[in-house]
Amino acid sequence: MRIALPKGRIADEVLGIFKRIFDEDFKFENRKLILKKAGFTFLNVRNWDVATYVERQAADIGVVGLDVITELRSDVLELLDLGLGKCRISVGGIKGDDGYKKKSEIVVATKLQNITKEYFSKKGIPTQIIKLNGSIELAPLVGLSDVIVDIVETGNTLKENGLEEKEVIMHSSARLIANKNSFLLKKPQILELVDRIREVNGA
Ligand code: PRP
Repeated sequence: MRIALPKGRIADEVLGIFKRIFDEDFKFENRKLILKKAGFTFLNVRNWDVATYVERQAADIGVVGLDVITELRSDVLELLDLGLGKCRISVGGIKGDDGYKKKSEIVVATKLQNITKEYFSKKGIPTQIIKLNGSIELAPLVGLSDVIVDIVETGNTLKENGLEEKEVIMHSSARLIANKNSFLLKKPQILELVDRIREVNGA
């Protein structure tokens, strides 16, 4: 079974779960992108690419944030909320300034274009979306946008830049996902793994 993990802290935490299940060390060596152990092949993938590997069946299962699968509208099965990587997707803006609410069109900077479009269009609010790739908090500070839509974890980045959370769009956490065909083909193995993960993770 192939498992796509998002590089970094979440991958380490998931490998920690496997360590507890199998009582063996699971660790990617140096710069290696593949780890084979206990009948599993783990793939070390960028966060935003996990759903692509799973959707196209290059991996059977994967771990990815709900924010990512929502933004990408991934056609995958969601098996389990791992409760890791908890965060919110929120509208952020300059502290104490709610002037954006009175505008006929709001300029929003974000890397989450689909989530942003859907949120504001459901509210019937016209927006102009500016796609950025990172450091989103900078945009309202220099007049590039009225507000931002971004990931908020501790809230420190907003705070340290004189911004505040204005509206919460959604809550997110890491989910165990499966390719739909893989799930049909390997249902007993996948469900057994889900049970064992649930047991050690207390999810
Ligand atoms: C994310 C997000 C915020 C920050 C939120 O950025 O885009 O900037 O983390 O975390 P906090 O609420 O705990 O401060 P990331 O580190 O992924 O960098 P980037 O957006 O600049 O790529």
